[in-house]
Amino acid sequence: MSASGNTIDTLLEERRSFPPSDEFRRRARVTDDSLHRAAAADPEAFWAEQALRYITWFQPWERVLDWELPFARWFVGGKLNVSFNCLDRHVDAGRGDKVAYHWEGEPGDTRTITYAELLAEVCKFANALRALGVRRGDRVGIYLPMIPELPVAMLACARIGAPHSVVFGGFSAEAVRDRMNDAEATVLITADEGWRRGGRVPLKRNSDDALQQCPSIGSVVVVRRTGGDVSMTRGRDHWYHDIIQGQSSVCEPEHMDSEDLLFTLYTSGTTARPKGIKHTTAGYLLYGMFTHDLVFDIQPDTVYWCAADVGWVTGHTYIVYAPLGNGVTSVMYEGTPDHPARDRWWSLIEHYGVTVLYCAPTAIRTFMKWGSEFPAQHDLSSLRVLGTVGEPINPEAWMWYREHIGGNRTPVVDTWWQTETGGILISPLPGATTLKPGSATLPLPGVAAAVVDEAGRPVAAGSGGYVTITKPWPGMLRGIWGDDERYRQTYWERFGDQYFAGDGARIDEDGYYWFMGRVDDVMNVAGHRISTTEVESALVGHLAVAEAAVVAKSDAETGQAISAFVTLRAGFEESTALITELRSHVAKVIGAIARPKWIAFTPDLPKTRSGKIMRRLLRDIAENRQLGDTTTLADAGIVEDLRRRATEEEGKEG
Ligand code: PRX
Repeated sequence: MSASGNTIDTLLEERRSFPPSDEFRRRARVTDDSLHRAAAADPEAFWAEQALRYITWFQPWERVLDWELPFARWFVGGKLNVSFNCLDRHVDAGRGDKVAYHWEGEPGDTRTITYAELLAEVCKFANALRALGVRRGDRVGIYLPMIPELPVAMLACARIGAPHSVVFGGFSAEAVRDRMNDAEATVLITADEGWRRGGRVPLKRNSDDALQQCPSIGSVVVVRRTGGDVSMTRGRDHWYHDIIQGQSSVCEPEHMDSEDLLFTLYTSGTTARPKGIKHTTAGYLLYGMFTHDLVFDIQPDTVYWCAADVGWVTGHTYIVYAPLGNGVTSVMYEGTPDHPARDRWWSLIEHYGVTVLYCAPTAIRTFMKWGSEFPAQHDLSSLRVLGTVGEPINPEAWMWYREHIGGNRTPVVDTWWQTETGGILISPLPGATTLKPGSATLPLPGVAAAVVDEAGRPVAAGSGGYVTITKPWPGMLRGIWGDDERYRQTYWERFGDQYFAGDGARIDEDGYYWFMGRVDDVMNVAGHRISTTEVESALVGHLAVAEAAVVAKSDAETGQAISAFVTLRAGFEESTALITELRSHVAKVIGAIARPKWIAFTPDLPKTRSGKIMRRLLRDIAENRQLGDTTTLADAGIVEDLRRRATEEEGKEG
């Protein structure tokens, strides 16, 4: 915090800037600020115009926006279907032969899927789901690897009006169980196994474990991916290829209301229970398509690759709904960037002639670590736009990306948004915005953002503070599944009529945003948000553990890594074997991404007199910094002991 105590310190100073090149501007969709001005002058008229441009409606809306803080309803009374907008209308317009996905599996198998083929498969699967008894409004769980059946399943759900809840394929049985139970899903769609770095991820086995405690799930659909052995429960489990066989490739889309639920997606909060973020039909689709179209400067011959996983919101919006809505050709890749070799991404870009690449800063930092000789082996001259998302990108990584991937030629768009926002809120428009490495630049047209102090007042240029959004936008979350009160408290209590994003940022003299991470203690490991409390709960779930506190420690590769301080129950011995066991325990309970990188044992944790763990001090210890104020500690001696133990544990990471 700054001296005045009401903003956030700013340390970064970056002076390089890159205006759009003349060559880029000649083809660019947007080259000035006219959209920004039109949207600011009359936001509702602006969004109404975009809704007519981007969406095919079965029935027009009556009102653009009902806003009863904090609940928004967009395009009230309108009727549409998301899968119709993503598929049928492109086929009806004669573009059925256009490729929707160039898909490539990790082992090297490929599938080319046109819009007409995708429509036919979505309809067959939608009919099969209906045959399993899925009705409009029923929730469907999806736990799949990055295979074409994943978008097919989502679109089939959208077609019949069944909201989906996708669980990232790297998550554990426990995560599947909790999410299915929270949504009371009736069907789970999974696969036998997935490929990861040559190994097999046992998705069906995890599903079976989860389903022992999921009473609402009546049917399971299993996609055969690896051909590995799995057990099928008679009456409950069905092979995907069996149930789509003989189904019609025609399926009437449900006429959904603009505000019908399209999906829930879970994001970690600061308490142990993940939040099911709700996104609805019209506003979400419009906002995804609009931002995708303009931020990536989509052209008729664009070959677009978002290298995220569909299990995260980036994949929902920018692998599935927005690119298909815009009728774009995408690349979809199942595996890791280093399988079989460290040039896999660059060989994909060369092979498919990718023009837009969208990925996370953590991937870029990994590529930097591996070295520029891998991209240098390939012709990457097809690339026109590079994007990043998920965490702040440091200027050096931004520069490396532009130079070694973009040939010192392409714009790099740093896009800031959240699961809750549905789509990108703050980002350059590559033909219009002068770029500064490390800055997400400016709010998009129609987005009203601010950086404010504790009292909710905009900070002065050059200062840091809390990022808020001051007006509703079509892609905004509509709440938290089953918990309106938590929605209000989490996002709308702190600053009243402004949406509290929970991120800190500095705003510079040009009004540019420089993001500085979360203002609370949620950790961001390789672009994934993980709450300290969830990891602590997992640790304390182990027999040997009495208490745990978890903090983020900066990490050259993953941005942040997890450090855990653990107090054992009486009768348990501290040992390296136990550290290994605890790390894999967390991976089992929450997923490998949450595995602590360091664990230090301690007889006690630093606490306030009222019993609150002082994470600020633990962060100082983990980062080996000068300790801050220790006067509120219940037991001041504890921190020196902890510091010694933390340094000892440093060498034991695995
Ligand atoms: O802290 C911000 C960071 O990621 C958070 C949102 O995470 P999630 O809901 O998982 O969505 C990730 C994909 C949209 C934000 O609150 N974040 C995301 N993009 C950026 C970012 N931080 C800085 N710069 C970004 N471009």
